[in-house]
Amino acid sequence: MADQLEILRLPYACGAEVRGVDLRAYSDQQFGQIRAAWLENLVIVIRNQNVTDDQLTSFGQRFGVLDELPPVGKGQKPRDNKYISVISNVIEDGVPIGGLADDEVIWHSDTSYREKPPSASILYSLKLPAWGGDTGFANMYLALETLEPALRKKVDRLEIKNDITYNAGGQLREGFEPVKDVTKCPGAIHPIIRTHPETKRNCLYLGRRRNAYIPGLKVEDSEALLDQLWSHATQDFLNWHHKWKVGDVVIWDNRCTMHHRDNFDPKTHRIMHRAQARDDLRPARDFTVPDTPHDRGRVYLGNVAL
Ligand code: OGA
Ligand code: MN
Repeated sequence: MADQLEILRLPYACGAEVRGVDLRAYSDQQFGQIRAAWLENLVIVIRNQNVTDDQLTSFGQRFGVLDELPPVGKGQKPRDNKYISVISNVIEDGVPIGGLADDEVIWHSDTSYREKPPSASILYSLKLPAWGGDTGFANMYLALETLEPALRKKVDRLEIKNDITYNAGGQLREGFEPVKDVTKCPGAIHPIIRTHPETKRNCLYLGRRRNAYIPGLKVEDSEALLDQLWSHATQDFLNWHHKWKVGDVVIWDNRCTMHHRDNFDPKTHRIMHRAQARDDLRPARDFTVPDTPHDRGRVYLGNVAL
């Protein structure tokens, strides 16, 4: 079929490259393949793209309801397209053009402190630094599958309060007070094990480590349990790091992955445009669904070349 895309599964715990598509013009059938590859591989990369903010927005809208993204840089003016935010260390006339600067960004799932967090995040690279700035993605189905059974049992019905106070770069959000007591800080409460609403598979859903709290436990017990979960979920075998090229569009599924960014050369510039779509659902656990092994070789999509 002329419309058929190539899906190249990457030899890591998650990730696939989708080839043969131009995001300025694609068919519904091709979008169907992109979406299926995303669900199956958790993260997809589409290289060599050249899209405007509006084209990125229309692509993003096909994944769900786009979140409006306020300007992230302090003092930054609203952008023309309210669905696109900028991730960058560039400063123009003393004002950052985007967020997250040039530091390491710790492992997290996007805006898990909301009641209805985004399902898809989309990042498009326009300018890259001399070194660093790779983005890592970790497979949370596999994290659950490989969790030590006693720990798996212990967290079965527990939840995490996902603190909103700091962003993933560690900066205090405007209008929030520094956290003194994790039991009191604001943020949504979600199950530690969630059932993905589309794939119907269970996975770990940890949000981010900073100021996380397991309601009902003593703070020291919550800290100890969270430390165990995090040291498991951030192991190398669960992740894949993407080395960016200009023109890459990467789409990840926040429901079943976490991501991390390496720091990068602060003397050079990195510019990414970003959109996020939500499925408009609260993360939930379906207790009738058993854990299933995450078999990456199971589904074939397009011309699988690996
Ligand atoms: C994000 C994010 C990482 C990066 O956009 O949500 O965490 O590589 N970005 O810039
Ligand atoms: Mn993020």
